[in-house]
Parts: sequence; structure tokens; C-alpha cells
Amino acid sequence: MLRMQLCRPLTEELYLASTKLMPGGVNSPVRAFRHLEMTPLMVRSGKGDTIWDVDGHSYLDFCQSWGALILGHAPERVIRAVTEQLQHGTSYGIGTPYEKALAEKVQRHVPSMEMLRFVSSGTEAVMSAVRLARGYTGKSVLIKFNGHFHGHSDSLLIQAGSGVTHLPQASSQGIPKELAHHTLSLPFNDFETCQKVIREREDIAAIIVEPISGNMGVVPPKQGFLEMLRDESRKKGILLIFDEVITGFRVGIGGAQKLYGIDPDLTCLGKVIGGGFPVAAFGGKRKILEQIAPLGGVYQAGTLSGNPIAMCAGLETLNAIEEPLFYEKLQEKTERFLHPIREKADSLDFPIAIQSIGSMFTIFFGVEKVESKEDLGALDEKLFAEFFKFLFHRGIYLSPSAHEAHFLSAAHTEAHLGEAQSHILDFLGKL
Ligand SMILES: Cc1ncc(COP(=O)(O)O)c(C=O)c1O
Repeated sequence: MLRMQLCRPLTEELYLASTKLMPGGVNSPVRAFRHLEMTPLMVRSGKGDTIWDVDGHSYLDFCQSWGALILGHAPERVIRAVTEQLQHGTSYGIGTPYEKALAEKVQRHVPSMEMLRFVSSGTEAVMSAVRLARGYTGKSVLIKFNGHFHGHSDSLLIQAGSGVTHLPQASSQGIPKELAHHTLSLPFNDFETCQKVIREREDIAAIIVEPISGNMGVVPPKQGFLEMLRDESRKKGILLIFDEVITGFRVGIGGAQKLYGIDPDLTCLGKVIGGGFPVAAFGGKRKILEQIAPLGGVYQAGTLSGNPIAMCAGLETLNAIEEPLFYEKLQEKTERFLHPIREKADSLDFPIAIQSIGSMFTIFFGVEKVESKEDLGALDEKLFAEFFKFLFHRGIYLSPSAHEAHFLSAAHTEAHLGEAQSHILDFLGKL
């Protein structure tokens, strides 16, 4: 049922005041809803699958802090663990048993991470992994893929010589031009181009890839693509870095690398391993990680790295997802939700691609299938904006961009999903 949620006076007031203090009124650009041409959401609280804005309106949340909240908002067991730890201090800047416990757990599920370091954001994890790869190989050039996002460190926002495009909200302004020669961005899933570049060049330190893309919407690798990257990189002494900041502990307990049976040299994790707190990690083969200070000469450090509160939240989150059938149930729930939507989309004359893996999905309007950023030329962003607003006014919050993944959590109830499903079917029925 349509709720008159356009009336958001406290949101408007808060947003206006915030724009005077923070660029765009936000602390991360996509939150500003500029591309949607509407006042953004200002949230007061969240519980389970729902968030409440400062005006008291509720929204069924399919963004879940950009995939971080696999258990939903404020899960009791995580809150309990964090509250208990809070009594004992919030930060020491010294080693704790919680770091060891979380590192052991991560390592057990992602065995390619023979050693790892905790940091506070995915950006930091990727930036450190890239520095490590350059330090270890003594080479400087990095291969990434068009449409893949690896945080906002300089090397990863660079546009390279191959006519690269980036996320709409990402730009390379402010980055020294010389760095442009150090990053090559290639089309994802393009075997031929990748093989050619890897075979021709001798200066490549690492290939970094989102093994399943989440940042141009959900785009899985073509069969054999990740294997090809593994084989070609190994032959040339190039490190293969899997950026599993989204997919790690999201698409399954061992991430995309377990799903596809690939053994990367380095892996970056974030989001789910922090249980909603600022935690990320980079790690990989012992001989490479031993190049990090104090064992080696590649420097990396952080005041809040391994923060005890965040470690306890991550630990308790991983305890929860280790329970039998956790991922099976989450995936089945996602499939049950998406099935009639796919059927409806297939029955329309208008092209719509619904792509999903595990509990992440994207509905691409205006295209039949997305295998790379190059397939997004015809993406109907205007229609996505209409779709977003249609659902928003009915108390449903999607990740606010046509290029993003949406996420289910263990807390999404069948009743709420049923309501969301019927609103989505309504919208599609009008196309
Ligand atoms: C694949 C990937 N890598 C890195 C990052 C950066 O992580 P953070 O936002 O924690 O800095 C993101 C953020 O969404 C991401 O999706």
C-alpha cells in the first residue's frame, strides 16, 4: 500500500544542516542520492530487516549497510558480545586474544590466507595488498577490471590507457597523472584482451579482481575466466589478488574462491567479517605476508586495526554463520523471493536482467544480460530511479543505484519479502 512518505520534514531539515557541514551532506557520495534527484534517507535505527528514518517511517532494507549485515540490523548475539567487551575498554592499540580468535576463524574458512592483517576498511585492505604485491614482486603495474571498485586509494581510481570507465560516483580528479601509467583497467570476462596484456608485459605486479562483481551490479565470472587469470598470472610471476570485500563470507563461508576452487595469492575481506563494525583484512601466502613490517620492509600500520569491539562483533557474526545450513537457507530464501520476479521479467517485451549469486542480486533494466561493464551501455538508469522511488514510497529500500548489488540477510522475514515481492511485481506489471 502506498504510504505518504514524501512528507519527511525532519529528514529534510537534517539533510540541509548536514550539507553545510559535510560535502553533499554525507560521508560517502552515493548516500547523497544525487543521481536519484531526491532527498536522501537519514536513518535513526535499524532492527532485523528494517530501518527507521528520523521521521519515523520504516523501510525493509535490501542494502544492509552495503552487504555488511548478513545477520540483519542489531542481531542480539552480536550486540551482547559487543556490550560485554565494551565494559573492558574500547581500544588498546595492543594485541588481544580477539584478534587471534578472529584470524584463526577467517584462516580456517579461507585457507589461502595463510597469514593476514586486520585493518579498518576495505579501502585500506586493498591499498595495503597492492603495496605488498608491489613490494614483493618489485614491479609496479596493476591490472584491474572496468566497473570493479576496490575502494578509493589512488592506484585503484586511476583510469588507464584502454578507454577505461569507472563507477559514476568515482572520479580520478586529484590523483597524480603519473600514476595513470601504473594501473591498466581491462574489460571483465574478456579472455583475449587479458591474455594478450598479461603475456606482452613484464612490468605487472598484480591482477586485482572482484571474483564476482558486485560494484557494477552482480556479474559472475564467465566459466574459466578466473582459472585463466590464475594460470596466466602464475606463469608470469604476477600476484593474483581476489578482492572479496563483498563476496567474502557472503556468497558462502569460503567466499568466491571456495565457490570457484581458485587459490589466489592475496585476498581482501571486509563488510561481513566486521559484523557491522569497521573491520577488513588482507592476507595470503605466508612468504608474501612475511614481507610486511616488522618482518619485512613493506610498511603498514593502523591505530584502530584489530579493534577489540570490532573483533568481538566479527567473531560473533562468524559464529552465527557457521551454524549448519546457514548459507543454504539464505540462498533458498533469496531464490524463493526472486523466482516470480524473474518469471514476470521474462514475460515482458522490455529487456530486464536479474542476476544473483547467494544472497546478492541486481535487477538491470534495459539490458538482456550483463557480463562486463561494456554491456551496461543501454542500462536504463531513469527507469531504475522510478523503480527505486516506487519501492521507497512503499517502505522498501534498495541499494540506491542502478549499478549496485542488493542484499538479503538472515533476518529478512518471509512476510516482509512477500510484501516486497508483490510491490516489485506491481511495478513490472506497469512496464
Ligand atoms: C569490492 C570492494 N572492495 C573494496 C571496497 C572498499 O571498502 P570500504 O568501503 O570498506 O573502504 C568496497 C566497498 O564497497 C568493495 O565493494
